[in-house]
Amino acid sequence: MRKKILIVITGSIAAYKALYLIRKLKEKDFFINVIMTNSAKKFITPLSVSSLSEKRVYENLFDLTEETEMGHIKLAKMHDLIIVMPASANFIAKVSNGYADDLATTVLLASKTKVLFVPAMNINMLTNPITQKNIKYLRSLGYDFIFGNEGKLACGDYGLGRMSEPDDIVKYLDILFDKTKPLDGIEALVTAGPTQEPIDPVRFISNKSSGIQGYLIAEELAKNGANVSLISGPTNLSTPLNLSNFIKVETAEEMLKVCLKKIPKDLFISVAAVTDWKINYNKHKMKKEEGIPKLKLIDNPDILKSISFHKKRPRLVVGFAAETKHLTQNAMKKIKQKKCDFIIANNVANSKEVFGSNMNEVAIMNTKGIFLKLTKMDKKKLAIKIVKEVIVPSLN
Ligand code: C5P
Repeated sequence: MRKKILIVITGSIAAYKALYLIRKLKEKDFFINVIMTNSAKKFITPLSVSSLSEKRVYENLFDLTEETEMGHIKLAKMHDLIIVMPASANFIAKVSNGYADDLATTVLLASKTKVLFVPAMNINMLTNPITQKNIKYLRSLGYDFIFGNEGKLACGDYGLGRMSEPDDIVKYLDILFDKTKPLDGIEALVTAGPTQEPIDPVRFISNKSSGIQGYLIAEELAKNGANVSLISGPTNLSTPLNLSNFIKVETAEEMLKVCLKKIPKDLFISVAAVTDWKINYNKHKMKKEEGIPKLKLIDNPDILKSISFHKKRPRLVVGFAAETKHLTQNAMKKIKQKKCDFIIANNVANSKEVFGSNMNEVAIMNTKGIFLKLTKMDKKKLAIKIVKEVIVPSLN
């Protein structure tokens, strides 16, 4: 069936790129409606938009003609996707705070449709903690964001505020609307990255995990149609696209809490390098003058075990095991102890070749022994292999 897309154009110098997007989407036979905010009209005209979309452009909330022709609630409900492009800092702030003071914000608040924001703004506005907080919050609710590459901005600054190109949006749509995917309807939960266990307000213990492998697996699952929740410890990675939920946590306790809330019916993949121990937290910074502190380590909860022994255990549970010796034997022990269907074991004896690197070499074990032994390959290829050769066959 023809997919229906609502494009919301807000005020930014990048608004002209929305014209190109409309043309591309028309060529691909999408059904399109467009809302322009008042600020958007300062950059491009409704006439140029409607000449391309071959439709009237919606502009006002209380315009009687518009409301009789197409009420705002109908606009909010009838589409398969809403794309906000360009998305200004102001518009993102309004949506994240539940404002409904014009047609565009009202439609977004009244809508349960998936929303993709394509931000374009000055780098200081983008990196401002206020904007970052708004984006983080919206992401945690399942809103998607696509950012452009670094480059010179219209304001003369250089940085990451540039908008993504319309061709990237078309790629996003190709993945979103391809309904012949093998994991369609599958619910998946993935953990990734390290956890950080605070010692005092400025110190913590953690490990070298970069999160790369977990993020790539989450992205690959989503590409294959799964509804993916990714729970991540602190990383410097950008959020994978097409996720249903993306939640960042710091400690193992926090990760466990979110995982228990989000137990899926189908699949749990525990890629996170959960810090095995935590420490009794000191409310005040420990002083050097007070001598070498005696830190008492306490066991952290085992998240993988909590999920695999849970009464709502997903159909498939996959763990990871980083070992420096006796790789396969230890992995087999772990399969039993942690009641996993698969353990993906990697040798981290030479840790620099794994942590933070793009390469990985693993053996995939199931309850009977070695299921698949793979040569060294880049983490993206490995994510594709894991999904294609382990996850898809096990869930079908
Ligand atoms: O016991 P070990 O840390 O080697 O087990 C590794 C597997 O268990 C990984 O899948 C990791 O995500 C998971 N794990 C966990 N909670 C812990 C420790 C490990 O979920 N506290």
